[in-house]
Amino acid sequence: MKIDRPIIALDFPDKEICLNFLKQFPKDESLFVKIGMELFYAEGPDMVKELKAMGHDIFLDLKCHDIPHTVEATMRILGKLGVALTTTHAPGGSEMLKAAKNGLIEGALQAGQKTPRLLAITQLTSTDERMVKEEQLLSCNLNESVKSYAKLAYASNLDGVVCSAYEAQMIAEATSPDFLRVTPGIRLLGGDAGDQKRVMTPDKAAQNGSSALVVGRSITQAPDAILAYRQVCDLWRN
Ligand code: C5P
Repeated sequence: MKIDRPIIALDFPDKEICLNFLKQFPKDESLFVKIGMELFYAEGPDMVKELKAMGHDIFLDLKCHDIPHTVEATMRILGKLGVALTTTHAPGGSEMLKAAKNGLIEGALQAGQKTPRLLAITQLTSTDERMVKEEQLLSCNLNESVKSYAKLAYASNLDGVVCSAYEAQMIAEATSPDFLRVTPGIRLLGGDAGDQKRVMTPDKAAQNGSSALVVGRSITQAPDAILAYRQVCDLWRN
């Protein structure tokens, strides 16, 4: 399954800047947008409601990671918001992952919403091999760690993972082709990688088995955001 529209990461500090950015797009164009911690902590659930009312689909990327009880209760709240996708961290363990899913299902049911699809973060795309060895003290390499977390998320009944496009094919083989591989770390040719360590172009990501793209600065910081978005769409779909 491939999500047709690239997901735009709305990594903005407040609503005003965010809406000014979105104003550049045609009014009736439905986008798939990602609200991360920055915007959500600044503006709260009203931001989700407002963007939904504008006709956009929402990926609420709050990367919840805590004890199972706390994550379940949090997901119960998030499940009521009518978002399409949300996230937790695979290193939280199987009990936490299952609790997260339960909370989402319950919350969505209570609010009469569709249950959001739940993705696990495996390793952040800003993590590299050195960090895995020297900071996380893992005895396996980055790929093995990602694969193991993806399998854990799959076994815990999640809907997919957030991963690097470099890992998408491997994860599809280790889990199922239907298990979503949502890939950030996307750049147009010649784009600045910034803090991302493992970047890829949209067309390469499609060839490598990505199910959905998350694109932030390559669009939001581009001199012409619409042009950049259309370029990403063309490369992703062809
Ligand atoms: O600006 P850029 O395209 O690098 O933004 C990537 C987005 O994807 C950010 O919002 C970041 O939080 C998110 N993300 C990531 N790596 C992950 C999970 C999420 O870069 N593993």
